[in-house]
Amino acid sequence: MDTERIAIVGGSGLTWLDTLSVEKQKVVVTPYGDPSAPLTFGQFGKLPVVFLPRHGAGHTIPPHEVNYRANIWALHSVGVKKIISVASVGGITMEPGILCVPDQIIDYTWGREHTYVESGQSPVKHVDFTEPYCEELRQALIQAGMNASVRLKKDGCYGATQGPRLETAAEIQRMHRDGCDLVGMTGMPEAALARELDLCFAHLSLVVNWAAGLGKGPITMQEIQNNLESSIEAVKKLLVSIEAI
Ligand code: HPA
Repeated sequence: MDTERIAIVGGSGLTWLDTLSVEKQKVVVTPYGDPSAPLTFGQFGKLPVVFLPRHGAGHTIPPHEVNYRANIWALHSVGVKKIISVASVGGITMEPGILCVPDQIIDYTWGREHTYVESGQSPVKHVDFTEPYCEELRQALIQAGMNASVRLKKDGCYGATQGPRLETAAEIQRMHRDGCDLVGMTGMPEAALARELDLCFAHLSLVVNWAAGLGKGPITMQEIQNNLESSIEAVKKLLVSIEAI
């Protein structure tokens, strides 16, 4: 068991960490099925890490089909206590190219396997989720962003949608009224599952498009891809700047 190791769950554009020096890979079986990929153990910058690509090594698993329970369970089962989750998102109050370490979540997803709590367990467990992210880890990400001199917003509300389709303009207006700054498809139930297992979990969002109705015309995959390619280096620069946590 390796309690110092931090997990990085990579999203679109981050299916691999180029400068990760790999020590080993491990296929983990969980009571909830298979995680998205084998876990990769290695050294990344100053950190010993476990890396897991959320959408699979070949980016084949869509957001609504990610086995979030297996992913978080697998990381927990190898002794990880802290998880950094990375994902690309649409911007509601933030423009493409900016990074954000959100401090709140609104969950609009449905039908996902979203809890480890099962019927028959007594007493039924209700976790506190007032502050959904681990503040210590959020601050480490913010500090790393400052050290790396990347454009970073220190807080924001992440709205998690079901996908895989993008939202309507009216849905984004509603999310704006609700207080969401970002919209993404993978932020939940990942964060809540980590809390159920008592893990310290924080998220790093990369804004890759204006959310529906806020940019010029429809959102194109080409626009998302272009912004992802031009900004993913900032994400890597931030991650590699994380000091020991
Ligand atoms: N909506 C939801 N998820 C996303 C978006 C978006 O506009 N962009 C990247 N992931």
